[in-house]
Amino acid sequence: MTSPEFDIFLNALPIPALVIGADARLLGINASARQVLGGDGTGRHYVTALRQPDAIAAVEGCLRDRLRHHAAFTGREGGRETAWRLDVAPLDLPGLRAVLVGFTDLTEMDDARRMRRDFVANVSHEMRTPITALAGFIETLRGPARDDAAAQARFLEIMARETARMTRLVDDLLSLGRIEEDERVRPTAPVALDTLVGAAIAALEPLAAARSVTLAFSGPEAMPTVPGDAAQLRQVLVNLIENAIKYGREGGTVTVRLDPPARIATMPAPAVRLSVQDEGEGIAARHIPRLTERFYRVDDHRSRAVGGTGLGLAIVSHIVERHRGRLKIESRAGQGSVVSVLLPASLS
Ligand SMILES: Nc1ncnc2c1ncn2[C@@H]1O[C@H](COP(=O)(O)OP(=O)(O)O)[C@@H](O)[C@H]1O
Ligand SMILES: [Mg+2]
Repeated sequence: MTSPEFDIFLNALPIPALVIGADARLLGINASARQVLGGDGTGRHYVTALRQPDAIAAVEGCLRDRLRHHAAFTGREGGRETAWRLDVAPLDLPGLRAVLVGFTDLTEMDDARRMRRDFVANVSHEMRTPITALAGFIETLRGPARDDAAAQARFLEIMARETARMTRLVDDLLSLGRIEEDERVRPTAPVALDTLVGAAIAALEPLAAARSVTLAFSGPEAMPTVPGDAAQLRQVLVNLIENAIKYGREGGTVTVRLDPPARIATMPAPAVRLSVQDEGEGIAARHIPRLTERFYRVDDHRSRAVGGTGLGLAIVSHIVERHRGRLKIESRAGQGSVVSVLLPASLS
């Protein structure tokens, strides 16, 4: 085969691939391999194309012993590292001794593995704190506080709080798992958001009262239903209103607003807007893009003090995604925050 024929053959392959001749020059390289390696095509010495010692050793080995070789390869695409496995195989055709190098993309697998590792480490860390506290109090109740009724009552109170924290954490983890499981299935049942908001506000009145926060609602006379999953949308509301109460101003007002279907620039079709506004300290811009990450908190101490798990907004973001909606967090330090959810007003 000539170089153009190799290119045609290589371009038909679903993976980045290239062919190297016995003279160590590139006989062919497909478009996707060119993208991984950068630079132009055939005729170059393979060392100038591959440039990484492991990859070069694998090709060298195959040219010499005509056996299969493998190597790890690190690419760079748009400033981001990509991970590949190279399979180097002898390619012996009539009158031609060459090697074929194929690239398998491991980036996503690597990312997934790293995320899983981080997640397990985070969960373990979150669980260890309350468990350590419980273990300490059990020791104290058995020993020094054995005959001290007042201390016992106080410690049991803290133990109950730590247990409640673990329960919340496990509940949040379970619901995150459930939401992820059917994230691809778009919910379709008609949901009356105004009724849902009313119920969520009623349920959170006691929490608001404890911080002297007034819960206000503003919405149109009649609100059409939207396609959705009522239980999940209720969870969105509860998580957002809870945050506004907990991180908003003590004695302030939290306003829940519903806007009827309208064309909104960032949405492909008419959408309703549901927003929760507080009068708290607000969130510095650099934190905003990270708030939906699991366990990300602006102020670790504060979140824990108010019983947060760090999963609330991660859950919200997954639910909104499942509804093909959009989550928007706007805040200026010192001026409170507005968290809005845009939901498609109809299917299609
Ligand atoms: N309305 C808000 N005002 C200020 N900060 C907020 C608000 N909502 C969320 N945050 C910040 O975002 C973080 C993540 O929120 P969330 O995922 O609900 O976790 P949690 O409330 O359990 O800490 C919170 O710890 C807090 O720092
Ligand atoms: Mg929260």
